[in-house]
Amino acid sequence: MKEDRALINDNAYDLIKLHGADILASQTYRDLSKNIQHHNSNTFAHQVQVAVLAIMYARRYRIKVDVRSLIRAALLHDYYLYCWHDKAHRPKGHAHHHGETAVANAKRDFGIDDFTAEIMIRHMWPINVFKFPRIKEAWILVWADKKATMRELFGNTARVDRFERKK
Ligand SMILES: [Fe+2]
Ligand SMILES: [Fe+2]
Repeated sequence: MKEDRALINDNAYDLIKLHGADILASQTYRDLSKNIQHHNSNTFAHQVQVAVLAIMYARRYRIKVDVRSLIRAALLHDYYLYCWHDKAHRPKGHAHHHGETAVANAKRDFGIDDFTAEIMIRHMWPINVFKFPRIKEAWILVWADKKATMRELFGNTARVDRFERKK
């Protein structure tokens, strides 16, 4: 399968650039770098980090995945468009509801399909205990999101400079 081979051979950042080109080119998306995510990390860098880790995990365990959907879900899973550290603008129940907000925004701005939405919407399990992941891509996103959070809390951020626009 062509996409599986790509997952094994290609650089994770190249795959993200390939499948997330429209997302990474969006000014709204790039402005997520102004929103704090965890400690030293911002929401843009966090989502890139999650996409890199998701690719690495699928690659390491040779899990056949829908590469494009997994990458797009990872890049957009926290696309809720506010800074959750800003208590004045953070909606009530942020931890439980931001997956749905991210899906709605991603459908509006990038036209994501239902499969990608299904991966995204369950990423807060087990905090959202009833949103149990039902497909392998969703499990990979849950794992990558938790791993990225732990890395960011200890100061490791993604190499978002690899996506700087060439002048
Ligand atoms: Fe999240
Ligand atoms: Fe996240």
